[in-house]
Amino acid sequence: MVKTAKLIFDGKTFELPIVTGTEGEKAIDISNLRAETGLITLDPGYANTGSCKSSITFMDGEKGILRYRGIPVEQLAEHSRFVETAYLLINGELPTREALSRFSGLLNDHSLVHEDMRAFFEKFPRGAHPMCILASMVNALRAFYPEIPERTEEEEVNITFSRLLSKIRTLAAMSYRISLGHKVVYPRHDLCYCANFLNMMFDSPVRPYTIDDDIVKALNVFLILHADHEQNSSTAAVRLVGSSRVNLYAAISAGIAALWGPLHGGANQAVVEMLQEIHDCGGDLAPFLSRAKDKNDPFRLMGFGHRVYKTYDPRARIMKKMCDIVLKKLKQKDPLLDIAKRLEEIALKDSYFIDHHLYPNVDFYSGIVLRAIGIPLNMFPVMFAIGRLPGWISQWKESHEDADWRLHRPRQVYIGLKQRDYVPVDERG
Ligand code: ACO
Repeated sequence: MVKTAKLIFDGKTFELPIVTGTEGEKAIDISNLRAETGLITLDPGYANTGSCKSSITFMDGEKGILRYRGIPVEQLAEHSRFVETAYLLINGELPTREALSRFSGLLNDHSLVHEDMRAFFEKFPRGAHPMCILASMVNALRAFYPEIPERTEEEEVNITFSRLLSKIRTLAAMSYRISLGHKVVYPRHDLCYCANFLNMMFDSPVRPYTIDDDIVKALNVFLILHADHEQNSSTAAVRLVGSSRVNLYAAISAGIAALWGPLHGGANQAVVEMLQEIHDCGGDLAPFLSRAKDKNDPFRLMGFGHRVYKTYDPRARIMKKMCDIVLKKLKQKDPLLDIAKRLEEIALKDSYFIDHHLYPNVDFYSGIVLRAIGIPLNMFPVMFAIGRLPGWISQWKESHEDADWRLHRPRQVYIGLKQRDYVPVDERG
């Protein structure tokens, strides 16, 4: 087996070690490249750059495979619950019954949010985007829950994980209620993670919320499908910010900010907006498809394409089925689902989408499920953030335990002006 790659530069040959992953993926280890050759690599968008070794999530974009800690996401979506999957991601193994009950107990213990944080919420302008509120509030958690020096590092880290996992859904539901001017609903210890969240979102003194097991299951599936996706943009942000050894709250807050963008976690909101626009324009798909194919038009078919998947995103397949299950259960018809299915059918036969390997990604159908269960549009990326949190935490933990850990600090190829002199303001032409 080849163990090194050869680089010939300036008449000299350099041997670069090859690293092989458990699924046979190969990488050239360039960590000594600059020291030995004076060269750096240039890879805009990091599409060919492995930033770490990781044992959390495996994905194969050509074959459409996604596994957490070795377990296919399809099996987790069918049999697991979000809290159990979060435990698996963070700890590496599925929990025993006792470990799961301890973990759920911890999440219950930490579900309340410091009352003084309410004042923060109330001062955000009405209409502020909930992702902006969430990123700020998660960062602010450090001020309300400072490190306690008497605790060991392990105790501190475990409490912080549980606190974040539990409080993120309380913060999300609070931001929604306060944005409506409605009374905040407190978490209940007798409800499981997802049911508790739905209750905090929708319960009201005039119309008590009825918890439906199928809707709770749909939310579990949504969150499991979003729970990790190896070195995506927001996870890379968490690792990069965390590499400065800042506290976990700040690193997660950076992940939320990265996730907010429409090319990443904001895409589920953008998909529904696009489907709605198609619907409002009479449902004709042709103008939208030709705009997506026009190089001079920045418009893209939202929910299509992925940096890694060059085939159908396995999560999109599960989400598509979920749309039918949830709408049937709620006895709803959603014209946007019909538009989405038609759009998919036409796009998958179109040579532009075939040649560019553009298939539906997880966001293409997830918004329809969220909308059916009553989640407002601007909360969609927040739902993604709640789902992704166990992934961010496990990646942060892995990077902190990594013997090869270093401050993340990429280099650049400078293409600006050469040295020149400062010109006083009166002498500038
Ligand atoms: N619609 C039309 N054309 C597209 C689309 C799309 N959705 N996505 C990519 N393309 C085209 C580009 O125009 C480009 O064409 P060209 O080579 O002829 O110039 C080619 O495909 C490659 O595009 P890149 O932007 O270089 O691909 P990249 O891997 O960087 O982008 C991304 C991936 C950002 C997801 C892109 O496919 C996209 O913008 N999709 C729409 C937004 C979206 O759905 N985001 C959610 C991603 S999944 C997630 O974050 C959970």
